[in-house]
Amino acid sequence: MKGILLAAGAGSRLGPLTATTSKHLLPVYDQPLVHYPLSVLMLAGIRDILLIGVPDQLPRFRALLGDGSRLGLRMAYAEQDEPRGIAEALVIGADFAGSEPVCLVLGDNLFHGPDLEAVLRREATRVDGCVLFGHRVPDPERFGVAVLDAHGALLDIREKPSVPPGDIAVTGLYMYSPEAVEYAGELSPSARGELEITDLNRRFVAEGRARLAGLGEDAVWLDAGTPDSLLDAGLFARTLREREGVRIGSPEDIARRLGYIGSGPARSTAGGLR
Ligand code: G1P
Repeated sequence: MKGILLAAGAGSRLGPLTATTSKHLLPVYDQPLVHYPLSVLMLAGIRDILLIGVPDQLPRFRALLGDGSRLGLRMAYAEQDEPRGIAEALVIGADFAGSEPVCLVLGDNLFHGPDLEAVLRREATRVDGCVLFGHRVPDPERFGVAVLDAHGALLDIREKPSVPPGDIAVTGLYMYSPEAVEYAGELSPSARGELEITDLNRRFVAEGRARLAGLGEDAVWLDAGTPDSLLDAGLFARTLREREGVRIGSPEDIARRLGYIGSGPARSTAGGLR
């Protein structure tokens, strides 16, 4: 399975913080935001990762992560020059994905939980169509919301419904069979001119090939797209560190634990800003 990390978008809700830098490079406690979704791909066992960013920010991502080798990864980079929707990431990543399944993660989503790694590894081996990851939230109207039958099977997804059909949000983490790339290319832009990820997912729902998985017991899902949620995410990371001695969002820690790199400090990224 290959990974696509979508770290594009203007970050307009975070202005003026994002006037000169990508939101995905802003600090969340002791790590840049992008390290958190990158860590999630690593926990799923993925080592080939395409990072998609806006053109003027790509040099900074390259400076941060390089070719990935210091983390035992293979990093590739691609541009999304206009905000044309989350599903466009699969179109941009078509050649990169080839005929492999893909895990797509949004660059401002943070996930944490004791079972997360096991859940991701299990789901990665059994994708037939798509696997979506649901999480109960108090404000479902802000998200894609799952419509479930009495047995918890996924019937539909409603994008930011004013009257939510439930409280399970579809998070920004998606696993797809290889044909998702082709399906994404066949989507029509929505009223706001974007290729909507929910439209892609609904195609798999209509085919009876979409599964909704949980993130495991006691999982936490945060996004960091607003000043409040960015601050909350940082405080959450600090609390975990102080109270439980757990450092989340560190690709270096994960690379070391998974045996991708040795126990010394990871070599600094060659190249710097280019
Ligand atoms: C997107 C998706 C939505 C999903 C959310 C997760 O919304 O369209 O279905 O629940 O990401 O973060 P956005 O945050 O881009 O508005």
